[in-house]
Amino acid sequence: MTNTFYITTPIYYVNAEPHLGHAYTTIVADVLYRFHQLMGRDSFMLTGTDEHGDKIVRAAEKAGVDPKTYVDRISAEFRDTWPQLGIFPSKFIRTTDSEHIAVVQSILQKVYEKGDIYFGEYGGMYCFGCERFITEHEAVDGNCPIHQAPLEYIAEQNYFFRMSKYQDWLVEHIRQHPEFIQPERYRNEALSMLREPLEDLCISRPKSRLDWGIPLPFDDRYVTYVWFDALINYISALGYPDGKDFKKFWPSSHHLIAKDILKPHGIYWPCMLKSAEIPPYKSLSVHGYWNVDESKMSKSLGNVRRPLELKDVYGLDAFRYFLMREMVFGLDANFNEEALVQRINADLANDLGNLFSRTAGMLDKYFQGVVPEPGEFGPAEIELSREAERVHIEYVRSMEEFAFHKALGSVWELINHANRYIDREAPWVLFKENRMERLATVMASGFGVIHVVAGLLEPFVPDTSEEMRLRMGIEDKPTRSLEAAGLDFASMIPVGKEVRKSHALFPRVEKPKTEARVEKDKPQVPSGPTVSLKEFRKADLRVGQILKAERIKGADRLLKLIVDAGGERTVVSGIAEHYAPEALVGKQVILVVNLEPATICGVQSQGMILTCEHGKTLLLTTVDGEASPGDAVL
Ligand code: MSP
Repeated sequence: MTNTFYITTPIYYVNAEPHLGHAYTTIVADVLYRFHQLMGRDSFMLTGTDEHGDKIVRAAEKAGVDPKTYVDRISAEFRDTWPQLGIFPSKFIRTTDSEHIAVVQSILQKVYEKGDIYFGEYGGMYCFGCERFITEHEAVDGNCPIHQAPLEYIAEQNYFFRMSKYQDWLVEHIRQHPEFIQPERYRNEALSMLREPLEDLCISRPKSRLDWGIPLPFDDRYVTYVWFDALINYISALGYPDGKDFKKFWPSSHHLIAKDILKPHGIYWPCMLKSAEIPPYKSLSVHGYWNVDESKMSKSLGNVRRPLELKDVYGLDAFRYFLMREMVFGLDANFNEEALVQRINADLANDLGNLFSRTAGMLDKYFQGVVPEPGEFGPAEIELSREAERVHIEYVRSMEEFAFHKALGSVWELINHANRYIDREAPWVLFKENRMERLATVMASGFGVIHVVAGLLEPFVPDTSEEMRLRMGIEDKPTRSLEAAGLDFASMIPVGKEVRKSHALFPRVEKPKTEARVEKDKPQVPSGPTVSLKEFRKADLRVGQILKAERIKGADRLLKLIVDAGGERTVVSGIAEHYAPEALVGKQVILVVNLEPATICGVQSQGMILTCEHGKTLLLTTVDGEASPGDAVL
């Protein structure tokens, strides 16, 4: 692989404010940009705004301002949104930039002189949403397949680009280069569009009808058609033809789009490049659409989701994580706040957050917060380091295939492996038995994994990754952790570093915001008989640490737990359908210790573990930090 990486997003139309869909593509670009930088590649990320054409003029009219004032305003909104989502592109391009305009005109002139642009008359069905003619074959019941809006018949004299001339070359190029359009379903879709004879592309509008565009250099009665203008942004931004960035980055150019603009990118753009004698881009990666609560996101349905609002409610990294974990790149996905809340609580607060807080809590207790030198690795540590290596390889492969959900899934396999390792090695038992060298090995290995995980997560959740490293006293950039993670696990252990115990990395989220809004008028707590404080205080609640957990024969819902609550006791708990016994060992829970003993399925239970009923699932209640078994819950 070359040592440069160039990633682009579509340049967004300024007729609407940034929404969830724009945010997704731009976050994906940022994730890749960060990943390739960590892999040591000289990288460039481009995004921007597409500001010419009919629909922009219409939007400006609706807003009651002239086009320039309007595009300046909305373009600034896009530009200012990205840093708030943790995205810092190398360049933000606008099609109204003078450098861009000059490049578009020079390419038009070159293609015209070559004879690939001619003057003619054309009539056809036009979609203003797509800003292109829709073929009879593409239209669905006379409507645009993307915007589902009626098409308008337009006939006028215009300039045309001889796209048909490049059809055979393009088919061959796509066939020869499997990575040119991906995933495969979109490559097939492009090939299927090319089974029909390509029509030449109308590239102009008479100024008398539209003057908000770039004038044709060879006929100033016309402006150029939006796509011919917009697509060129990908090279004008690099300083084509002579800029050093163009020479450096164009050979490793990757375009990122959603399925709505496959045809302009998969067909028009390569033909334009070929005609202008510019090498084709390296790859086009096409993702699906985000729907909201199973419906298409649209202004009329009132379900357009604003990324900044979601980030304010749920936190930036939780929002970024959800988008990247939930969508299978290439397929449509459904955005639903309940699913977002579940992911935050299960993956971020529970798996990742707990791994950090429990390991930090134990380190504080057993080694005054300083990561000890590990002793000799035993079979469990060798297995852990092999798992880190396996996950690293899988992660890099998935990132290069744009399979972000898989990359994250593999990081979570490592996190869960580490949680199970701690449960099994039971540092609290090692401490009790005064096996300090073994305890040092386990605690050190735990932090080795946390360091690896912080590196692998950097592209997705950069703030959390940094927070994890800073809490471990690691100032270096995560580059080393990405390279070394799979190769040398032992070197990832931050020996001698003081780990700060602090607030949870990810606080649990209560409820989807929208659901909370709907339920505002309902009582939040079911009304029923009241309990006086005096009566309530009779219940003796304690922190307990689960030492052992096993199923009870013949009782599907019950587990027999041995709990240290300042003294060992047996507790029968109805959580077998929600927790595997091995996942419970080591967990801290809250239990009532002065409940009358009861014999359940032949086992005497000396207490009751508190759980939270969340829909149909039961979640254990626990303490936020490492407490000692037997600590009173007040
Ligand atoms: N201006 C053209 C692109 C020119 S590129 C040379 C354009 N702009 S757009 O504002 O309509 O942006 C379309 C892009 O926004 C999609 O390709 C995708 O990246 C993103 N998305 C818009 N809605 C989306 C969803 N509902 N879901 C996922 N991404 C979507 O087309």
